[in-house]
Amino acid sequence: MTEVARTPAADWWRQATIYEIYVRSFADSDGDGIGDLPGIAARLPELADLGIDAVWLTPFYLSPMADGGYDVADYCDVDPTLGSLGDFDALLRRAHELGLKVIVDIVPNHTSDQHAWFKAAVADGVGSAARARYIFRDGVDGGAKPPTDWLANFGGPAWTQVDDGQWYLHMFTPEQPDLNWSNPEIGTEFELILRFWLNRGVDGFRIDVAHGMAKNLTEPLPALGIHAVDRQLRYEVVDHPLWDRDEVHEIFRTWRRILNEYSPPRIGVAEAWVMPGRRARYIRHDELHQAFNFDFLQTVWECDALADVVDSSLTEAGAVGASPTWVLSNHDVVRHPSRYALPPDADTVEWLLSDGTMPKADLALGSKRARAAALLMLALPGSAYLYQGEELGLHEVADIEQRYLADPTWERSGHQDKGRDGSRVPLPWEPTGPSLGFGSSTAWIPQPPDWGAISRTSQESDASSILDLYKATLRLRQQFMGDGQLRWLHRGPGHLAFARSSGLVCVVNFGEAAVELPAGRLLVASQRLDGSRQLPADTAAWILTN
Ligand code: NOJ
Repeated sequence: MTEVARTPAADWWRQATIYEIYVRSFADSDGDGIGDLPGIAARLPELADLGIDAVWLTPFYLSPMADGGYDVADYCDVDPTLGSLGDFDALLRRAHELGLKVIVDIVPNHTSDQHAWFKAAVADGVGSAARARYIFRDGVDGGAKPPTDWLANFGGPAWTQVDDGQWYLHMFTPEQPDLNWSNPEIGTEFELILRFWLNRGVDGFRIDVAHGMAKNLTEPLPALGIHAVDRQLRYEVVDHPLWDRDEVHEIFRTWRRILNEYSPPRIGVAEAWVMPGRRARYIRHDELHQAFNFDFLQTVWECDALADVVDSSLTEAGAVGASPTWVLSNHDVVRHPSRYALPPDADTVEWLLSDGTMPKADLALGSKRARAAALLMLALPGSAYLYQGEELGLHEVADIEQRYLADPTWERSGHQDKGRDGSRVPLPWEPTGPSLGFGSSTAWIPQPPDWGAISRTSQESDASSILDLYKATLRLRQQFMGDGQLRWLHRGPGHLAFARSSGLVCVVNFGEAAVELPAGRLLVASQRLDGSRQLPADTAAWILTN
């Protein structure tokens, strides 16, 4: 591997490439069909070779897996299906040897209903100290009906009744009771949890549902209507009792002080689905370092819309001295090659319900755009978050047999929404084998048969593969990121071109007509150009202009 200068140690996160590992679906070391920590540790050299700076591990803590591990029963232990604390230490050691940082997921909005605290809350009864760690209320209409009309993410009511008649709040599944962050005991406990992992050597945290922890639950609780608890805040809200409340920032200021006690300071990344303009509040200098840019992820493949998001993201992060982030896919959304293959107004829930047949997806077009999108994202100033498998060009698996669907969304929606499993299908590492090198048995979600041809090993030997494109681009990114500035050379219609201070120019063509490339050395292109200076439709290129 070529050694290149990196940003100063304390600022490594400002222009990093961080790779999300969905632990259950990355690599299975013990043949139970489920990915695990030793499986990841064994594959870290491949990730170092890809050219990333850090990995983010989704939750691997003790969990009944009602929501793929986002229902934690013990924050300081590893689920036996995924490994042990010793396995985690070994993974961390190996990652650090390879120069990779490790970010772990922290889930502070809710616990599992199997957490000792929740069991005590149920057992100790109305008015107990244990119950005060969660959000319990009496019902209405003599107690028989939930306190409010609030609906949970993934479907169903946001309240569930316990045997003594009280109801508890869960903004996600009933197996994920929400913690009561106005009880100081919760903050104290999470500080201990953060330190537990920091002292083991982690480099940072991804904070689940960061915009949901603080709530205003003063009585009377308001009725909120059908979208009340939708965590993705796709509607304008002002003073919402559950989401994006100002009180949450005090928690993150405390956390930042803890992160700063370590050298170099450890980092925090917020999963905060908030309205445009509100994200910067999470990344002020005394709060978290970064927040996922879901605006970028949610923007369709359209020149002006993407340029607007780039501008607003740069302005927003710049105003608070933070650095922007860019993300195209994660374990909660339809993979971007498939999104780009669909008409821009397609309803992906409907599309998944039709097993990916309605509307018809132009998969080749989606793949072509995904290659171009990678060049766009990786040229932008700030940090890029990759999702496992995007470097292989994986599409959403829209036709998973129903018996394999594990996302609670499927059951909670009354089979009206298949949920997120199509983005969580275990990775294909080898062209053949019972789970294409993922493990020695069938994977927990079987992979499509044609994934052998796009396995990592198959792509290794193919210079035209998307894996090769990611590797080449990531190496160039380390060389040419320069400072955090971007200068537009062309901002639509039809195509975008921008320059970085290093002399790197990125051109992306969204239109139908070819675009003339600027003078300079072609560093990489998302399609073969064969010496031509004409950039075709849905193609991107990097040119070195100085
Ligand atoms: C966001 C996580 O990314 C998602 O997978 C999970 O279901 C919810 N938070 C609830 O923890």
